[in-house]
Amino acid sequence: MIFETHAHYEDSRFSTDRDEVLCSLADKGIGTVVNVGSSIETSKACLVLADTYDFVYAAIGVHPSDIDCLNEENLFWMKKQAGHKKVVAIGEIGLDYYWDKEPAVQQAQREWFWRQLELAYEVDLPVIIHSRDAAEDTMEILKQFRREHPDVESPGVVHCYSYSPEMAQEFIKMGYYIGVGGVVTFKNAKKLVKTVEAIPLDRILVETDCPYMAPEPHRGERNASCYLPYVVNKIASIKGISPEEVESQTEINAKRMYRL
Ligand code: NI
Repeated sequence: MIFETHAHYEDSRFSTDRDEVLCSLADKGIGTVVNVGSSIETSKACLVLADTYDFVYAAIGVHPSDIDCLNEENLFWMKKQAGHKKVVAIGEIGLDYYWDKEPAVQQAQREWFWRQLELAYEVDLPVIIHSRDAAEDTMEILKQFRREHPDVESPGVVHCYSYSPEMAQEFIKMGYYIGVGGVVTFKNAKKLVKTVEAIPLDRILVETDCPYMAPEPHRGERNASCYLPYVVNKIASIKGISPEEVESQTEINAKRMYRL
């Protein structure tokens, strides 16, 4: 079955039919969901969802645009929650220079990114990285982290990957997976198509980032994991293999990274 590696079902756009949407996923071929936090508040909601549904796991972490909610106390709270049996990753964490152009804010993003990377290392969990318009700094920080912690085999995923194929190869060399979602189906997705072409199938994870990033032909609508077959089919056609092969290999990849 398809492994949904990145969803936000705690989002208010699911408040009227969340249970219905989640309970219908198995019938649509979706076997496992990792629900990803982006703030302390949404991380708490991820834990509730993971406690409620057998097939839902949680990632806890603070997105670069939400670092205002971070402090030592909250970081300590995250560390304690990381021991919860259904917490499978720290994320999403990273850098977003698209929304934040202020040098001081970007500096704060880099500091909290580093602190959360260290946290993931301490609790021995992979990270889910959000990186937008910050390719060089993301690469630099992860290289630095690798120099200090060369023993981590499967450090995480660069989610909703948007950089060059060459850079994807560099992330893969450091052990990271590449997250591919609805964008790969867009008409203007040339760079991501080239990346999928260039990288091995055993480094790709499929994800929605729902409620955002719905694939064609549902672009602009509320996204949900039931649309993942469009992503799987597109990857299959780029690679010239069957959708079944993409589905089974990406599920193996996700289970390996999340250690399930
Ligand atoms: Ni996300």
